[in-house]
Amino acid sequence: MRTPDTDCFDVRLTAASMLSNDIRLFELQSVTGAPLPAFEAGASLAVHLAPGLVRQYSLLDDPATCQRYRLAVKREASSRGGSEAMHGLPVGQVLRVSRPANHFPLRPGEGRVLLLGGGIGITPLLSMAHALARQSRDFRLIYYCREARALDLFDDLVGAQWRSRVEKYASCQGVPTRTRLARLGESLAADTQVYACGPAGFIDEARACLQGRVGAQRFFEERFQVDPARTDDEAFALQLGRDGEALWVPGDKSIVQVLREAGVGIETSCEMGLCGTCLMRVVEGEPLHRDSYLSEQERHDGHLIVTCVSRCGSGKLIIDRLE
Ligand code: FES
Repeated sequence: MRTPDTDCFDVRLTAASMLSNDIRLFELQSVTGAPLPAFEAGASLAVHLAPGLVRQYSLLDDPATCQRYRLAVKREASSRGGSEAMHGLPVGQVLRVSRPANHFPLRPGEGRVLLLGGGIGITPLLSMAHALARQSRDFRLIYYCREARALDLFDDLVGAQWRSRVEKYASCQGVPTRTRLARLGESLAADTQVYACGPAGFIDEARACLQGRVGAQRFFEERFQVDPARTDDEAFALQLGRDGEALWVPGDKSIVQVLREAGVGIETSCEMGLCGTCLMRVVEGEPLHRDSYLSEQERHDGHLIVTCVSRCGSGKLIIDRLE
């Protein structure tokens, strides 16, 4: 069983700038002068913003040469505290972070690689592109955004040696992202590894258009901006263990929230379905997976559930702690 990394240390926010009116770029450096722990392409950093408020953000530089950590964080209108707190941090602030962990690694292989980023979802793909260029792998990075003014936001973070491999499209310019993804799916080589990162809707589209072409074993995803629950979600019955109290999960609350309100202690970290800290066992019922943590096989087996984001597809779920 995978376990969350719990090593923590302090870093200092040494610089920050706005890439747009809602995306802030952060530079973090060692407090002691000692080298920062190394990270892999696709890795993220858990930032401890307050008790119970830990958020994971992708590291976006070249993992091979990095002497600092850089993150880009979008302020979300529906922020549950994380992006709001990040945007309010003053330069000079010391922050507690966890050792970088990789929930979205590049897989070995010789074939082509396609990196698909929806909005701020481009961030882990930037470190992946650096690594792929170093490995001389054949790759493309395609960035999709809504507005034309967002097209150039990340240009300064692109490596000069792989700039020609980057394509950028804004859906407001006439061709919807869904259409572009469908066209991409028609021409994609079947042995391509696809890495998609972005909001849930973007990932769902990318999966629908491309997975049939390359197979589930070559389609990898990381979902950003996952809301623990949406108001249009179905409510369902929940029980902790076969003899546990009967609980009710309304459409606007997550399993984690409902358990906590019932006095059940449950550890979380990212609360975005990325790290697996809140993983529980499914005793009965059908989980509706919304995370980016479980493998395709684990989803299919239906024995595990990421309780900060996932839901129930069968009206009632009985879950229990991992043994
Ligand atoms: S807390 Fe990270 S996946 Fe649930």
